[in-house]
Amino acid sequence: MTAAIDEMYQKLKAMLGDMAPDVELRVKAKLAVQINQLKQERNAVILGHNYMEPALYHSVADITGDSLELSRKAAETDKDIIVFCGVRFMAETAKILSPTKTVLIPSARAGCSLASSITAADVRALKERFPGVPVVTYVNTYADVKAETDICCTSGNAVKVVESLNVPTVIFIPDEYLARNVARETGKHVIFPMLTPSVGRDAELDIVPMHADMIGWHGRCEVHEKYTVQDILDVRQLYPDVVVLAHPECSPEVTAAADFAGSTAAMIRYVAQTHAPRYLLLTECAMGDNIAAANPEKEMVRMCSVRCPHMNEITLEDTLKSLQMTRYVVEVPEEIRTRAYRSVQRMLAIG
Ligand code: 13P
Ligand code: SF4
Repeated sequence: MTAAIDEMYQKLKAMLGDMAPDVELRVKAKLAVQINQLKQERNAVILGHNYMEPALYHSVADITGDSLELSRKAAETDKDIIVFCGVRFMAETAKILSPTKTVLIPSARAGCSLASSITAADVRALKERFPGVPVVTYVNTYADVKAETDICCTSGNAVKVVESLNVPTVIFIPDEYLARNVARETGKHVIFPMLTPSVGRDAELDIVPMHADMIGWHGRCEVHEKYTVQDILDVRQLYPDVVVLAHPECSPEVTAAADFAGSTAAMIRYVAQTHAPRYLLLTECAMGDNIAAANPEKEMVRMCSVRCPHMNEITLEDTLKSLQMTRYVVEVPEEIRTRAYRSVQRMLAIG
């Protein structure tokens, strides 16, 4: 055990030595070794979203990736237990795809501002208002919302999913900015008939314009909505050669001012495959640290520390407790799961 801890500490020090204090890396190395041992004993797999903090991401996650990659891999695994180091809607997707497995999430508080912006009743109201219009739902939603949906999408395949439907109008929920970014890329016109989920709904519904290619919803990611065009201009002034990457949950003004927009996995691939002197990532800041650790020769501009409070709930300490105490078990009622499964499966079939 001591040798394994020392080996893990050396690995973390080599990757993260200039980001975290020595004593922290020693504590985390010990936790990581305990987790990895228990993981084997319990025949568990740990999935780590790209936003996990660097020590966890580089020490215990068997599979890392964006939400689409993780949903796919979760479905393929032959392990008995899936520990999902990510937020609740992601763990629910793993359960939807792997109903016979035990799915655990290390923190019961890992929610998401975007996922909680819309309810299943809201989707039913939209469908009633726009009968026959297919519903495309971003995977950053809870299972009961997916169950009301025709097809899911991720930030990586949203354009492809919308185009695959080949219909004049789609309901696209719940991220306002992702909808606006998809509309920009596909040349579609998007409207937002409901200004807020609960205030003035009837009045808003009554003034729906006649023409729309996309009907959106006013959900926002509390992390990505923080970035502004001014942030990009400020950094470009300091570093004219900086390459700016933005997540499609940023506003369309921000993605238009960036050099590249894509899912977390697409941003990681972009940095790995290009040779710019420095990069600015407009997304959750832990991901910049994870990329910097994996690409020591490339400079990530650390403009800020915009962390997702929900992703930040997932720690090595809680991941260990999750395996020790089999907590927190993620359940999705079977009637909801089967309907949600259909919409996720339709998306996976498209790729
Ligand atoms: P990705 O699907 O790009 O990994 O994004 C997940 C997320 O929560 C973005 O805020
Ligand atoms: Fe939700 Fe935004 Fe956090 Fe992703 S980064 S989990 S969309 S709040």
